[in-house]
Amino acid sequence: MSDQELYPVPAAWAEAAKVNRAQYDAMYRASVTDSDAFWLEQAKRLDWMKAPTAAGDWSFDEGDFRIQWFKDGVLNVAANCLDRHLATRGDQTAIIWEPDDPAAAPKRFTYRELHAEVCRFANVLKAQGVKKGDRVTVYLPMIPEAAFAVLACARIGAIHSVVFGGFSPDALAGRIADCDSKIVITADEGRRGGRRVALKANVDEAAARAPSLEKVIVVKSTGGDITMGARDIWYHEAAAGVSADCPVEPMNAEDPLFILYTSGSTGQPKGVLHTTGGYLLWASFTHDLVFDYRPGNVFWCAADIGWVTGHTYIVYGPLANGATTLMYEGLPNWPDASRIWQVVDRHQVHTVFTAPTALRALMKDGDDFVRRTSRTSLRLLGTVGEPINPEAWRWYHDVVGEGRSPIVDTWWQTETGGALIAPLPGATDLKPGSATLPLPGVQPQLVDENGQVLEGAVSGNLCITASWPGQMRTVWNDHARFFQTYFTTYRGKYFTGDGCRRDEDGYYWITGRVDDVINVSGHRMGTAEVESALVLHPKVAEAAVVGMPHDVKGQGIYAYVTLNAGETASAELNTALKQWVRKEIGPIATPDAIQFAPGLPKTRSGKIMRRILRKIAEGDVSSLGDTSTLADPSVVDDLVTNRVS
Ligand code: WT7
Repeated sequence: MSDQELYPVPAAWAEAAKVNRAQYDAMYRASVTDSDAFWLEQAKRLDWMKAPTAAGDWSFDEGDFRIQWFKDGVLNVAANCLDRHLATRGDQTAIIWEPDDPAAAPKRFTYRELHAEVCRFANVLKAQGVKKGDRVTVYLPMIPEAAFAVLACARIGAIHSVVFGGFSPDALAGRIADCDSKIVITADEGRRGGRRVALKANVDEAAARAPSLEKVIVVKSTGGDITMGARDIWYHEAAAGVSADCPVEPMNAEDPLFILYTSGSTGQPKGVLHTTGGYLLWASFTHDLVFDYRPGNVFWCAADIGWVTGHTYIVYGPLANGATTLMYEGLPNWPDASRIWQVVDRHQVHTVFTAPTALRALMKDGDDFVRRTSRTSLRLLGTVGEPINPEAWRWYHDVVGEGRSPIVDTWWQTETGGALIAPLPGATDLKPGSATLPLPGVQPQLVDENGQVLEGAVSGNLCITASWPGQMRTVWNDHARFFQTYFTTYRGKYFTGDGCRRDEDGYYWITGRVDDVINVSGHRMGTAEVESALVLHPKVAEAAVVGMPHDVKGQGIYAYVTLNAGETASAELNTALKQWVRKEIGPIATPDAIQFAPGLPKTRSGKIMRRILRKIAEGDVSSLGDTSTLADPSVVDDLVTNRVS
């Protein structure tokens, strides 16, 4: 089995490690036995206007449910990411921006320049009436202004809600309306892989369904042709008249920092809320430990700022730690499969942090694209978002890293704020495919279906039994849903929704979601969302969506569709339905396969038997299990016969 395959900490890393194995063990012990003292000490890595006198105050129990950290502390996130660095590293590069087009010029911003840009952006927001606690929706491409905008919100105490630029107008409208945001920051257009994304036009379309929206601030990025209306303000015009100085808003540690919408197993995406002190501490602590960050290292998290990975490891973690963070506008494989490694060479990147799906896609194009670049600056490689198959792990390690760089496979979620289970490069021997061991303060537990705690080498459902500073605090506007979603499956524990195996060395191997959530290219997709989009189509009566194995995306989207009486299935309708979902939600939700089905397997009480649908989508039709309890067992034969492969 692959867990016998061990990659010891390389000698160079072991000698110079910030945290070696003995230190990790000691830290872990201290974090669990005296959590308060441990976290109050760690809290000193931040700059507080008023230092906290207590760390965690939490309970996962129903009657007493609460999650608070450092609750008498006062600080400002932007002050921690910018102002406090000015005296020591004002002239150091804070952000390197690499454009989509390799022929265009990169941009660099020192901490001093970034500070000025953020202050200006904050003053523009203030001039538009944005105040502490207001929600600001950010729908931007991967341009420096995306970082300016979120930090500007943090500076004045506004709550940002970043919506990935790949989401449709409808998805954007839902996210604006849910948090009642009056203002959207967007750009004329985005650039990705040489193509343009019509962001401003999408906002215009969303506006019709987002009644709270009053103003749109538009950053000129491509200079493309757009229409400016009564509620639209050009950012460059507004910024011309404001000062590059803006005081920071003192924030309580538990004041909200941002909302980020994420998909769940039921209903519409929920607004995950993170607060100020605990989140920033977790971002800083994990970025420092997991990536063993040293001054001068160029750190590149190749995610989009529209996902939590971008929030924590492009912006907040690196900047809190005074790092140089690289922001890339484009795609990993454009103009060709060399691009990532060319960017590494161009900016002398020390750490690359990306998703397994990108590695699998690049691996397919062959080693030459990697070998024609030098990569001598690389020392550390990271992955996130989905389980990494050992084959992709070894390719990353051997071909990309030439055996020099450890791989940190970080397991976490939008809800967790930052990494929870991950190796430390100077402390943890690696096993390809395992996220290895919990970080300090993280107490994982495996339980069976009945909530029975499982000990030793075993597989089960992954729970976390104690709060950590970076934990989400609530679902925006729906605290009951927060408790219901995460703390009722197994009483008194946070349930992650993931299945997991623990081996004889105590290493954790995440096996994937055990709920109705699928992971497409490292992005979380609720099957219920795709189903709702499909049934909105006038010809569709019913839909059931499940995940299927996909060799690049990890999981693909497989949809079973029942048409209304009188409608006929056709190849054209199949294509049209895929386009429909793409337009309703966004390209990432496009079904990979649609199977027309005269009926879906249901129990006599009308519940769809997803277990059977999953097996058929996986092509595993020999073990469908007991189908005798179905209202109409014959539908299964039709599904098997007409499976889309
Ligand atoms: C889900 C969370 C973490 C930020 C990006 C995704 C899966 C995440 C790993 C990993 C195996 C992983 C889990 C988790 N996942 N990282 N290293 N190994 N699975 O955040 O959209 O909130 O999705 O991604 O299933 O529950 P997200």
